[in-house]
Amino acid sequence: MRTIEWDEKKDSVKLIDQTLLPAEYKIVECKTSAELIDAIQSLKVRGAPALGAAGAFGVVLACINEKSKEDIKNRVERLKKARPTAVNLSYGANRALNAALRGRSTQEMKTNALEEAQRIADEDVAVNKKIGEYGSELLEDGDVVLTHCNAGRLACVDWGTALGVIRTAIEKGKRIEVIACETRPLNQGSRITAWELLQDKIPVTLIADSMSAAVMREGKVDKVIVGADRVVKEGVINKIGTYMHAVVAKAHNIPFYVAAPLSSFDRKRSYKEVEIEERSPEELIFFADKQIAPLEVKVYNPAFDFTPFELIEAVITEEGIFCL
Ligand code: MRU
Repeated sequence: MRTIEWDEKKDSVKLIDQTLLPAEYKIVECKTSAELIDAIQSLKVRGAPALGAAGAFGVVLACINEKSKEDIKNRVERLKKARPTAVNLSYGANRALNAALRGRSTQEMKTNALEEAQRIADEDVAVNKKIGEYGSELLEDGDVVLTHCNAGRLACVDWGTALGVIRTAIEKGKRIEVIACETRPLNQGSRITAWELLQDKIPVTLIADSMSAAVMREGKVDKVIVGADRVVKEGVINKIGTYMHAVVAKAHNIPFYVAAPLSSFDRKRSYKEVEIEERSPEELIFFADKQIAPLEVKVYNPAFDFTPFELIEAVITEEGIFCL
């Protein structure tokens, strides 16, 4: 199934629980926007484009569970705040809410919101395929591509942005290998990217984040491709660690690409105006259930960082490649 879908029979959102991967593949169901907010905050569903679809389907849940337009709007405001950094969550929720508010009855509002949410989900898949078409031209047969976090199928409704570029290049007959950085502290790289690439039989080697400089100096990386949570005036906000890889790639003359849909663009805003989500200290003090740092240690745990355009060779979108 897709990463996130609407269940027509149960009037609920179905999603692949990404916190359990790779050990367990489980579908969870959200019947209320409160349950969906919990799934978003606990990263059961994550990745900017998937959050866009989640925001839109969340509006449908609000239309089902709330009685007045005012209550629906309040619910949607809470939903949009579930995670602050990826612009797609608000993008998807706003589109579905505007569609809902054009309805005159609660039934009409729900129908409108659902139609718009399905459109957003389908668009996401089509957009990723176009990103793949453009981006695959940048890859050569035999390339080894380093990626960070997960910008694949599971970060989107399907196919993926950064991993979509790799999938399309492989479809076109190019031999591509991937180096996946584990992406501490929540390991989206080792748990999700490595898993989904292996599902597709795409060759992947896992490294710790701290190994990227050494691996680049050893000449083992031809290109870097990552996704984006928000493309702003001066650069790209993405998973913490992205900036480090971009600096290192520049130092080794390795092209650093960002693959992102236009729905992740927020070009009027500066990175300084964007809230970078800070996550709980427990994510660094514990690994699974094992304590790995003193309980009383001070922790700084931002989930994202900012990479300026000077370090980025090009941004790959559904409308083409923007060289910087
Ligand atoms: O905290 P996450 O797992 O939601 O962070 C996801 C990322 O940073 C992805 O790289 C980004 O959303 C792009 S996904 C196509």
